[in-house]
Amino acid sequence: MRRRALLGAGGAALGAGALTAAGWPVLSRYVREGLPGKVLRSRAELPAAFRTRLPVPGVLEPTTTSGTTDTYDITQQHAELEILPGLRTRAWTYGGTFPGPTIVSRSGRRTVVRHRNELDRPSVVHLHGGHTPASSDGYPTSLILPADGSYDMHRVHQDMSGGPHGMTMDHGAMGPMDLTEGSRTYTYPLDQRAATLWYHDHRMSYTGAAVWMGLAGFHLVHDDEEERLPLPRGDRDIPLMITDRSFAADGSFQYPSLDAGLHTPGVTDAYMNGVLGDVVLVNGAPWPVHAVDRLRYRLRILNASNARLYKLQLDPQPAGGGGFVQIGSDGGLLDAPRRHDALEIAPAERFDVVVDFSRYEPGTKVRLLNRFGDGSTTQVMRFDVGSGSPRDDTRVPPKLSEVRPLDPGRSAVTRDFHFRGSAAGWTINGKEYEPGRALARPKLGQVEVWRFTTNFHHPVHLHLDPFQVVSRNGHGVGAFDHGWKDTVDLRPAEAVEVVTRFTDYPGAFMIHCHNLEHEDMAMMGDFVTE
Ligand code: C2O
Ligand code: CU
Repeated sequence: MRRRALLGAGGAALGAGALTAAGWPVLSRYVREGLPGKVLRSRAELPAAFRTRLPVPGVLEPTTTSGTTDTYDITQQHAELEILPGLRTRAWTYGGTFPGPTIVSRSGRRTVVRHRNELDRPSVVHLHGGHTPASSDGYPTSLILPADGSYDMHRVHQDMSGGPHGMTMDHGAMGPMDLTEGSRTYTYPLDQRAATLWYHDHRMSYTGAAVWMGLAGFHLVHDDEEERLPLPRGDRDIPLMITDRSFAADGSFQYPSLDAGLHTPGVTDAYMNGVLGDVVLVNGAPWPVHAVDRLRYRLRILNASNARLYKLQLDPQPAGGGGFVQIGSDGGLLDAPRRHDALEIAPAERFDVVVDFSRYEPGTKVRLLNRFGDGSTTQVMRFDVGSGSPRDDTRVPPKLSEVRPLDPGRSAVTRDFHFRGSAAGWTINGKEYEPGRALARPKLGQVEVWRFTTNFHHPVHLHLDPFQVVSRNGHGVGAFDHGWKDTVDLRPAEAVEVVTRFTDYPGAFMIHCHNLEHEDMAMMGDFVTE
């Protein structure tokens, strides 16, 4: 089995400066700025910003609960949504909404989610940030076939093999295929800290398309430690899923896939470095507005965009700055809060922050800006601050949690992972993704140092367990690297060292770039814990 070369002959190794020379078109501007992706312009008429109220995804009720387990049912289905006023967008959804319903779990209580696939193509569900046994982790070829029986093995192969980014079948097997018809039950022990997780599609070669079309939702985990803290809760604990999208004239999602039906792997050449939209959605609404009281709010910010990086900033900033008080990262609470004037957030990263709107004068309209944006993507949403002065009984204590540092000095192995674009495509250690081929075989319980290097911009994600960043470019950690992370952003020519310790579950898990176009076009690998 081989993936066909992404570029024609003559594509030299793709240093940042060599991108255009290698004949990979239109990347030069983004290479210069160090930002990935290319904007796909909407053809629909776009609404003015701050006209739509911020939706908050509903919390899913369990179908059954027992002493140890809560069981949920989600039907993956098409839905016609009104995202742009007056237009209909046909989305692929979890349960009919985008984002999908939020699942709220208790640490250590088993959550079982039965997904039924009523879409017209296979799907795979991954719980991002979940400490999950391999059999429920959403391996990219562990497909749920559509319930209507429209897919057989032949169609599965067909969808994987077309076009320049397809896989040729010359060596027979497609790696470890594991198919279920119509539905699949995912079991999440959730033996892990309170954290903001999310679930999304992870189907081989189609993750970018599927997430773009709507397959993403929040999964929050709570625990006693977090609950004891006097942090804002209830309707002042708000998940914010930020995505950029592009719309066709009729309101449908535009995605630059190689065929209109999304049955050919990959995107057109111009978008190989990532698809960017010109509409910023928060919880599925364009540039929404949210009314807040002059109180503290906890915002769980998730960048669920395919490729776009954001630099989020409040405008105006509160007097004295430090408008974002970060209390958590991908893997839950930090040991102590950290103040930021701006947050740089790459695809799949989460920043759990507290914003104290009592620092603003009554009636202030506080915009959330994207300093990495351009035109319509410079704004994200707005908070309209109320007029009263209600009493706030929440606070951010100076000590949040115990984050015990993993000691890189105890590391048994150091492993290197080079994330590169080259003539051969987007690769890790020079290899394109091949299901069933392990790039590493870490021992469960063993402390290891993993070193990531890049020649381009790549948010690197590991499944199974979070890690701690030890160094960035040989220096200390960056401002956004603190706490337990499962995704770390690397800029061109950067080197990041993380310390890992995989635990509990043997089997095949993924390491990949979370720029979903890079991921789909082969920047992914298996690691097998044993
Ligand atoms: Cu958010 Cu392997 O994915
Ligand atoms: Cu990448």
